[in-house]
Amino acid sequence: MILRSKVSFALALALSFLLITWCWHSSPSASSKPPYRLFESSSPLPSTQYAIATFLTGQATNDDSYFVATRVLTHQLLHAPATRCNSSSTSFLVLCSQDVSTEQKEILRKDGATVVEVQDVPLNWWIYSGVQRWKEQFTKLRVFEMTEYKRILFIDADTLITGHLGDIFDEPEVNTLAPTLSSRKEQMRKDESPFPTQWLFAARSDNQFTGEREHSTPPLQTPSFSAGFFLVAPDKEMYQHLLAVMSHFHRFDPFTMEQSLLNYVFRREGAMPWRELHWKWSATWPNEKDLDMGVASLHEKLWNTGPQRLQNIWKNRKDEMIRFQEERRVNAVT
Ligand SMILES: *[C@@H]1O[C@H](CO)[C@@H](O)[C@H](O)[C@H]1NC(C)=O
Repeated sequence: MILRSKVSFALALALSFLLITWCWHSSPSASSKPPYRLFESSSPLPSTQYAIATFLTGQATNDDSYFVATRVLTHQLLHAPATRCNSSSTSFLVLCSQDVSTEQKEILRKDGATVVEVQDVPLNWWIYSGVQRWKEQFTKLRVFEMTEYKRILFIDADTLITGHLGDIFDEPEVNTLAPTLSSRKEQMRKDESPFPTQWLFAARSDNQFTGEREHSTPPLQTPSFSAGFFLVAPDKEMYQHLLAVMSHFHRFDPFTMEQSLLNYVFRREGAMPWRELHWKWSATWPNEKDLDMGVASLHEKLWNTGPQRLQNIWKNRKDEMIRFQEERRVNAVT
């Protein structure tokens, strides 16, 4: 029995090795400069130093909640006087995967968003998760390739904005790069090369590990971060590094997808330990105290969960967005 499982394990190992080598060599990303954008015909990106980006995938026909959330986020960052960003310094991009419908992209454009159609990131066979549309969750990694921008803040669409997020680009954790720690040589596996010499990846501790909704504010720090809010200096070498890590069987837990990939690459004990952004920028599992203490963005599906007071604010934002866009379209016609 034991012998048999050993033999099948060895077989599986040999097979995976073959497959991995094959996938790696046939991966289009290994060739020179693949365009991350889906259509060459897309209009050029607005040229600003900074960008805030979110990500939309196609959805089941009976569920447009993320599409609506993306519209609400667009409204908060582009139009709402209390939370909009300075458009001369910061662009707002909606990265859309291949499956987003033409109608939805058109509505987002009319709302004022810059729609960027991006190709899915090529995945190795072992990267699998039961979650719906898991494959596309890796597509958000394209932000690492968007070197048109000096810095990109990535935000999940299910986020309530309550402050001036554009100011995050002035933070010392954000406006300088970090060196890769060559003193941690044992953490730099050869098969994951290249390692950039300088890089930036900053994120927030995840309240999921410190009491969820009961967490204190200011919150405690946690070993891993939430991948719903992170800030990067785009860098093609870093993107290649991510692909190199993804080519190795079970180097990270595929079930928690890009969150565990990023938490592996930027692990605290690694050669590129993630930088912690100040707690005032974002909270997962937000509660009323986060709101009262001025946390600038609250990550929650507030259309059906979370504290009632927060849900009410989100619903008001949504109504405001619909009124605003209706008026805009009427004015555009007359
Ligand atoms: C907006 O950004 C531009 C370019 O960085 C800057 O010159 C301008 O002062 C900013 N405006 C405000 C209101 O901060």
